[in-house]
Order: sequence, then C-alpha cells, then structure tokens
Amino acid sequence: MSEVLTKSTARNIFYGGSLFFFVIFVGLTAQSRHYILTKGTDEAHLTDSVVRGKRIWESHACFDCHTIYGEGARFAPELGDVMKRWGVEKDPAGARETFKSWMKAQPTGIPGRRQMPQFNLSDAQLDDLGNFLDWAGRANLQGWPPRPSKTN
Ligand code: HEC
Repeated sequence: MSEVLTKSTARNIFYGGSLFFFVIFVGLTAQSRHYILTKGTDEAHLTDSVVRGKRIWESHACFDCHTIYGEGARFAPELGDVMKRWGVEKDPAGARETFKSWMKAQPTGIPGRRQMPQFNLSDAQLDDLGNFLDWAGRANLQGWPPRPSKTN
C-alpha cells in the first residue's frame, strides 16, 4: 500500500480535501445567514422597544434560568413562545398584561414550585420586555426547540 499512496498524493488529498470542505462550510454559513436575515427574522416589528427589551433580558440575566430558542439555562421554562402560549395572537394587550402581572407577582412562594426572583422592573421596562418576548416568538424557527422540553 505504501508504494501506491505517495507522500505528495497524500499531501494533495489533505490540502484538496481541506479546501473542498472549507468552501462547503463557507457556503453553508452564508446560506444560513441569508436564511436567518431574510426569512427567519421578523424585521418589520423590530422596534426600539424590542431592542430595549432584549437589553433588559441580558442585563438581568434571565437566561441564567430560562432558555430562548433553547439557548440558556434549563432551570425554568423556555420563553421563546411564552407570549404565544399566553394568547398574544388573539389578544395582544391581554397577553402583555398577563406577562406584567406575572413579573410583579414573583416569587409566588408556592411550596414545591421553583421560585423566580422579583426584579422590581418599572412598567416601561416590563412593556419593553413583553414586546421583546412577543417579537422573539414571531421568528420562524422551523419547529425549534422541540416540545415538550425538559423544564415544562
Ligand atoms: C433564578 C431563576 C430565574 C431567573 C433569573 C428568571 N426566572 Fe423567570 N422563572 C423562573 C422559574 C422557576 C419560573 C417558573 C415558576 C413557576 O412555574 O411557578 C419562571 C417563570 C417565568 C415566566 C412564566 C413562564 C411560563 O411558561 O409560564 C416568565 C414569563 C418569566 N419567568 C420571565 C422571566 C424574565 C423576563 C426574567 C428576567 C428579567 C426571568 N424570568 C428571570 C426562574 C427564573
């Protein structure tokens, strides 16, 4: 066998193969990026309030316990679709009120349930967070993350 595969052939296979798969990798990366930006993201509703809500989500480390799109810790429920589950499609104002009441009512102190801290956010901050979660729920995730997830 060693006579068949010369050193230079092996080297060419290595470089050629690396280049081939690198080109495929770059192509797939570009395709994913294109898909996310054109079909996956609801850009029309990406308001300043949604952006502020995302910053509050980050600065208060909600992801220390929650996931969005499966990203984050799995201590508490996935929140990518929480506004949908709370009926935002039929009653946007009602779902936002439910969200705000939920945030203000924490921790519930109900025995046997995991507790969520009280963040003492202002009404304006809660509006932004609610808008962010509503917006997040409108991304086309093609069914991701699979349900039921471990925490629900
Ligand atoms: C220390 C962990 C922790 C952090 C941090 C946390 N949560 Fe929670 N959250 C929980 C737990 C636990 C529950 C479930 C409580 C229950 O079911 O009684 C919950 C539930 C929720 C729910 C209801 C989910 C549902 O499907 O019913 C929402 C909405 C929510 N959290 C939003 C937030 C937001 C927004 C933040 C950041 C500002 C946040 N949480 C930060 C622990 C946390």
